Amino acid sequence: MIEAKGVSKFFPVTNEKGLAEGLTAVLNVSLTIPDGRIVSLLGPSGCGKSTFLEILAGLQAPTDGTIHIDGRLVLEPLPATRKEQIAYRRRYRFISPLANGVFRDHPKHDIAMIFQDDAVVPWMTAIANVLFALKLRGFDPFDKLRDRRGLLNRLLSQSKHTRRELTEKALVYLGKVGLAQAANKYPGQLSGGMRQRLALARALSVEPKIILMDEPFAAVDALTREKLQDELLRLLSDTAVAGNAITIVLVTHDVSEAVYLSDEVLVFSPSPGTIRNRIPVDIRRPRARTDPGILAIQERILGMFQYDINQEAEYQI
Ligand SMILES: Nc1ncnc2c1ncn2[C@@H]1O[C@H](COP(=O)(O)OP(=O)(O)OP(=O)(O)O)[C@@H](O)[C@H]1O
Ligand SMILES: [Mg+2]
Repeated sequence: MIEAKGVSKFFPVTNEKGLAEGLTAVLNVSLTIPDGRIVSLLGPSGCGKSTFLEILAGLQAPTDGTIHIDGRLVLEPLPATRKEQIAYRRRYRFISPLANGVFRDHPKHDIAMIFQDDAVVPWMTAIANVLFALKLRGFDPFDKLRDRRGLLNRLLSQSKHTRRELTEKALVYLGKVGLAQAANKYPGQLSGGMRQRLALARALSVEPKIILMDEPFAAVDALTREKLQDELLRLLSDTAVAGNAITIVLVTHDVSEAVYLSDEVLVFSPSPGTIRNRIPVDIRRPRARTDPGILAIQERILGMFQYDINQEAEYQI
């Protein structure tokens, strides 16, 4: 379960005259996402969707508010510079990482993220991309031993035997997204749709509980996009059969995509981003894109955006 409470993000910026000016990217966002749900964050460009997703993943610190995943606090990334270290210690002096059950040098939560752009490493072949993701997670077949004998297993994971098993695992996930034939190609040799599928294979390969997706299908044409959406749903229902439904938080500015895929659509207001509407999509799966229920919800959301545009026009006059 993902719980965000009063999350805000403020960026200090300087304007063209060199004066300090602030920008509130995310304002007081609270939400709860139960396990196994698909939830979309929908909003106009620049309303803070990517920022909020990165805060969920623990890649950026919120200025205010907290995120808990399965009851554990999501902390920001470890500080890199000395100045950051001092600020970091000061901020967390009352919070013991142990008390929160957070071990800083382990992956904090089972999250995979698909970024808005450059979701794959261009100088690695498809299979190397998946292997890289697995390695970053310290993935190895001796999973149960890992907690107790972390160092030994890290050494073991360098051995040839483990590497072969990892390769098999990577191939399984490439196969799932239909890229088994393209395992040795570089991202530059793949089509846009294939690159997105590769990013999906990487995310699925680490067997996360949560996948955060930042406009994963934005760069591909309309037909490929619909195919990828259906593939995503199919892959998710496959994993749900195995007993562990994956939670998806999907950022998009495509209304039909959001409604078709999601159990709930959260509509963000224009900057500063805050949730202005929560729209449940209680329509049974598998869904048809032309389902009257789906079309009605799309109409409702488009109506809201139209209202925003009209308001803005009035304000300018
Ligand atoms: N590091 C930063 N420093 C200053 N401002 C930033 C920073 N990152 C983002 N912003 C600002 O925060 C706002 C929200 O950015 P964000 O990338 O979250 O928008 P978005 O909703 O993902 O937009 P899009 O749909 O175009 O991807 C923007 O106005 C952006 O200029
Ligand atoms: Mg974005």
